[in-house]
Amino acid sequence: MSAYSAEATRRIAPRQITARKGGEPIVCLTAYTAPMAAILDEACDVLLVGDSVGMVVHGLPNTIGVTLEMMILHGQAVMRASRRALVVVDMPFGAYEGPPARAYDNAVRILKETGAQAVKVESGPEVADTIAYLTRRGVPVMGHVGLRPQAVLMEGGFRARGKRADEAACIVAEAESAAAAGAFCVVVEGVAESVAAKITAAIAVPTIGIGASAGCDGQILVTEDMLGLFEWTPKFVRRYADLRGEIARAVRDYAADVRSGAFPGAAETYFSTLKA
Ligand code: KIV
Repeated sequence: MSAYSAEATRRIAPRQITARKGGEPIVCLTAYTAPMAAILDEACDVLLVGDSVGMVVHGLPNTIGVTLEMMILHGQAVMRASRRALVVVDMPFGAYEGPPARAYDNAVRILKETGAQAVKVESGPEVADTIAYLTRRGVPVMGHVGLRPQAVLMEGGFRARGKRADEAACIVAEAESAAAAGAFCVVVEGVAESVAAKITAAIAVPTIGIGASAGCDGQILVTEDMLGLFEWTPKFVRRYADLRGEIARAVRDYAADVRSGAFPGAAETYFSTLKA
């Protein structure tokens, strides 16, 4: 078996995620770096190299400034350090909204240059044709409906979606068109439980919720949010660790040791074996 086919068979494939519809919940987290991907790989079914990397790692105010090159660089790091999980790379703002053939070229660059198995697009109604164009040409696509962070300039901020009946109906229709166009699963972000449940019942592929209740086939969070790296997190995040507090404590202890001369000690020092 060639190295290529071994790589292709040991990872969870998009079609295996699709087959989990209604079954054991699908576990997804974001990953942007090699050390984090290595830790997350064992417990997760899907690692998403989200364009949230722009805000989480690069300190951008939103995801608009994220480039294809940034996504490829982080995708490569995550692929190098993971073995098992399905790796999906977000297509950044501006990389897929134009002609489908251009979206295809950008998606192919992501797949070829990272080795990831799928891309994600934020899928308003205008993107359904592009999803169909990509999937018919061998590019697995994860959809994304509800709160779409790349719509921040039009929306003027981030807000939960689908509170009004007409907006809820639009979101259900967007999920249906993404699934009909061939998306292997659909992220549902920032919607009420009733809307998430409606989408989950309406489409034949799994829904992956973020701020979208337990009425989805799987869940995703931004890893740094759930590890407690930030002072503030949205209501839908559960903090499973206090990394911010733990890092601050470790850095204070290190600084105190350096200032007092307690670090480095004998255990952290190389000694010459040469006789003087
Ligand atoms: O960019 C991202 O991280 C995302 C999710 C959290 C779904 O799109």
